[in-house]
Amino acid sequence: MSDISRQKIKHQTGQYELLVGQGLLADIAKYLDSIGATGPIGIITNNTVNELYGATLRDSLKAAGLVTRTILIPDGEAYKTLASAEQVISALIAQGMERSGTIITLGGGVTTDLGGFVASILFRGVKLVHIPTTLLAMVDAAVGGKTGVNHSSGKNLIGSFYQPDLVLMDIDTLSSLDLRDRISGYAEMFKMGAIRDKEYLQFLFSNMDELLNSKPGDKLVKGISRSCALKAQIVEADEKEADLRRILNFGHTLGHALETTLGYGEIRHGEAVILGMYGAGWLSNQVGQLSNEEWEKLADMLGKIPLQLSLETVDPVAIEQATRLDKKVANSQLHFVLLKKIGEAHIQAGIPVLMIKLAVETLKNVWKDNT
Ligand code: NAD
Ligand code: GLY
Repeated sequence: MSDISRQKIKHQTGQYELLVGQGLLADIAKYLDSIGATGPIGIITNNTVNELYGATLRDSLKAAGLVTRTILIPDGEAYKTLASAEQVISALIAQGMERSGTIITLGGGVTTDLGGFVASILFRGVKLVHIPTTLLAMVDAAVGGKTGVNHSSGKNLIGSFYQPDLVLMDIDTLSSLDLRDRISGYAEMFKMGAIRDKEYLQFLFSNMDELLNSKPGDKLVKGISRSCALKAQIVEADEKEADLRRILNFGHTLGHALETTLGYGEIRHGEAVILGMYGAGWLSNQVGQLSNEEWEKLADMLGKIPLQLSLETVDPVAIEQATRLDKKVANSQLHFVLLKKIGEAHIQAGIPVLMIKLAVETLKNVWKDNT
């Protein structure tokens, strides 16, 4: 059994505890006590995760005398909508949810985003506990206080900043996760290392197999906790994304264009971010910021991530067109997160959209050889 990592995450109006370890789900009641959660507990989850882990969670809460209500949302990004949020709220109210109650989200980023959003608006805000069960939700979605749902004209266009009262990451839940979802989470950890901590990036690369296997143990706990700590430092400095927090979008400009072009069912968010980081790293080198030596190192590390994806159908022209629609474009020039060196990122204005096509052509060549 690995040690439990505990850290306090500070934000504008307070702080919360973030725990990473094994067996935490069955011990949830103990941790809820620390935040004074006594009222009804509304568990927001989906069928997939409920079947796997819902009973363990409910049994622990019931044993502690807590009243629970489980609200199921359909599985998938397509259900991260305002309509779903309203249905969840109606179900919670119908089942006796109170202002003094607590919402627990149990699931991946879709669930933590939707559930966090519901918690932020129901009765103008109720206690919120995230129990992320995907690697991506652990290292990204459940930390930092962004909640939200999608709108027909774009992803995450409706939402709030709402910090949780407790975040509990039980790494045992990762054993049931699909490999592509683990790679997707690993991508966001890799991003944190690339933009903030070269030593951590080396740790991630050296232990890639173990982390991608989600083998429960100290390395997985360390990998997740460090990523959360790095993200929390950035969020603490710039909670509402006025400036510094934008570096968390490293790999995301190109990544989003790939997601939009290929379709959300075809490519995981993190897979697109891996490709996007390759493109952004290449650009950083092309504009003379990232040295050849560091670029080759970064490219080698990214190229070794075993993407379960064919880039055959990726059309560089279509990707370039998609980036033209990006919020960060003005006069056919993009704001891009680039690297000055590994571990140091910044926002660079004036990157010509035309360079995107070249970046995509380059990465298509790399992954052609690897797949
Ligand atoms: P997801 O929530 O759709 O989960 C992926 C799949 O894994 C789903 O089918 C889910 O049911 C299943 N699943 C979850 N836990 C499982 C487990 N332990 N075992 C087996 N299957 C499991 O997707 P995701 O990748 O976790 O999250 C993506 C979402 O997160 C997107 O909506 C994205 O916008 C959001 N996000 C938010 C932030 C933020 O800061 N708020 C950051 C990054 C991503
Ligand atoms: N996932 C980006 C952010 O939290 O700001």
